[in-house]
Amino acid sequence: MSACLAVSAAPRLRRMQIPDLEAVLAIENQVYEFPWTRGNFIDSLAAGYEAWLLEDGGMAVGYFLALQGVDEMHLLNISVAPASQGRGHARQMLDALCRLCRQSGCLQLWLEVRLGNERARQLYRRYGFAEVGRRRAYYPAAQGQREDAVLMSLQLAAQPLNPEVQP
Ligand SMILES: CC(C)(COP(=O)(O)OP(=O)(O)OC[C@H]1O[C@@H](n2cnc3c(N)ncnc32)[C@H](O)[C@@H]1OP(=O)(O)O)[C@@H](O)C(=O)NCCC(=O)NCCS
Repeated sequence: MSACLAVSAAPRLRRMQIPDLEAVLAIENQVYEFPWTRGNFIDSLAAGYEAWLLEDGGMAVGYFLALQGVDEMHLLNISVAPASQGRGHARQMLDALCRLCRQSGCLQLWLEVRLGNERARQLYRRYGFAEVGRRRAYYPAAQGQREDAVLMSLQLAAQPLNPEVQP
């Protein structure tokens, strides 16, 4: 597989590497109340997960990490820097992930999202994901509480390729 995935004319996706983690963690710590640690990212890179960084004008603006199974993919983390949100970057990364899935024969994409993360749930719903289940008390929450995860799934066979993303 090539080291770069073109997702549009300007932003550029490339494989995440250890030296990127400073920029990645700066975003991660801004967008999550319970962020992944540096160790979580290092472990994911060492395990060979799909880990991609989106750059715009040479600046890291987002990233995603996904775990590939035999014939399915599990999206573990997708994040966009606050100043760069609302510009379609998450959609672009989902397009690229779907392309990766098809290239590796994965016909189903899974993810969990916090019940209260309406923005992300809206993103996934509008992208075509279906809410297929609930994992009770899956995430840590404020004041020692727990929050449910919504399990979402996308059948890739039913998802047309973005015409901007060439197979
Ligand atoms: C969720 C997140 C990844 C979306 O990234 P983004 O680049 O802003 O999203 P996009 O610009 O590609 O928008 C895609 C869709 O997201 C939703 N969305 C984007 N901005 C939104 C906003 N301000 N309010 C509500 N929905 C919004 C919309 O459904 C939009 O679809 P549309 O363009 O057809 O209206 C980003 O807000 C983020 O990083 N949040 C913090 C981390 C997080 O929660 N990640 C998901 C964990 S499961």
